[in-house]
Amino acid sequence: MKEDLINLKNQAIAQIAECKDLEELEQIRIDLFGRSGKFTLASKEIANIPVEEKKQFGITLNEVKNTLEEQFAEKRNELNNNARVWFDPTMPSKLPKLGKLHMVTHAINEIAEVFEKIGFTRMKYPEVEFDYFAFGALNFPENHPARDDWETFFVDQPESKKYGPMLLTPHTSSGQIREMLSNKPPIRMINIAKCYRRQIDVSHYPMFHQFEGLVVDKDISITHLRGTIDHFAKSFFGPERVTRLRPYHFQFTEPSFEVDISCNVCNGKGCKLCKEGWLEIGGAGMVHPNVLSNCGLDPKVYSGFAFGWGVERTYMMKSGLSVPDIRLLYSSDLRVLKQL
Ligand code: DAH
Repeated sequence: MKEDLINLKNQAIAQIAECKDLEELEQIRIDLFGRSGKFTLASKEIANIPVEEKKQFGITLNEVKNTLEEQFAEKRNELNNNARVWFDPTMPSKLPKLGKLHMVTHAINEIAEVFEKIGFTRMKYPEVEFDYFAFGALNFPENHPARDDWETFFVDQPESKKYGPMLLTPHTSSGQIREMLSNKPPIRMINIAKCYRRQIDVSHYPMFHQFEGLVVDKDISITHLRGTIDHFAKSFFGPERVTRLRPYHFQFTEPSFEVDISCNVCNGKGCKLCKEGWLEIGGAGMVHPNVLSNCGLDPKVYSGFAFGWGVERTYMMKSGLSVPDIRLLYSSDLRVLKQL
């Protein structure tokens, strides 16, 4: 019995070695291991052999099976490697599915381009920052509510003696301080970055984006601020759009304003979308003398203006897009993102 198995093995090895193609190889395999294949039938013999030989027979069966399987695998590899598949290299290929930029990236690129064309340099500043740069140097009083745990994300790090605790930047205005400390006027910078606040509902997300402009030089006045804002509104939203400044209060600018842009739906007449013909876009103002001094600039020599607006909001105002829930923007859900 054992000899029969060994013969079967040797015969099969010889057949496999001579085999020329994959189809033939498969046939050899079926003749051996198929339902009524030679090996299958031989293995059934185990029922008829004396008990004392059963163990040895079982071992031989396994050995033969393993050896043949190895032989088949090797031969299959060899035949596959030899197979030459003809193909036409000029055939158009299947195109991969192309993705696109996220709406926010797209908005950032467009905003940066408008300002770069009028001489602003795009800068990047830390998003994990010290309290001093985000608040202190920007003239925020010690007890200002924005410095509270409920408003800002503080980072679990030892406090700096000089700059206080660390936090995630709640606005891009911290970039103003970094800029004035590291570069001498004339300054014309645009800082577009992520901001973090403890807020979440349909129109607020804990992470969002702002773009912050800063211009500092001798003899900078509100007219420069107005001109720059108007230029942005016309370039970004369309030549028919105009802006207006509404008095407001920010700690780090004096005077400070809220900037409104004329509504494109009613052309300034007043409609459901806007407040009496105007849409609010963000804050702006003349750099506060204390802020200039904190950065080592003499407010009697230098003056400047700054503005800080939300990227998501500005882009939605332009595209007329209304997202029922701001969280969808960052949900990574392709069904949503494909529509943006
Ligand atoms: N940092 C302000 C905020 O997040 C926005 C702002 C207001 C920025 C006035 C400015 C400015 O540069 O001058 O609400």
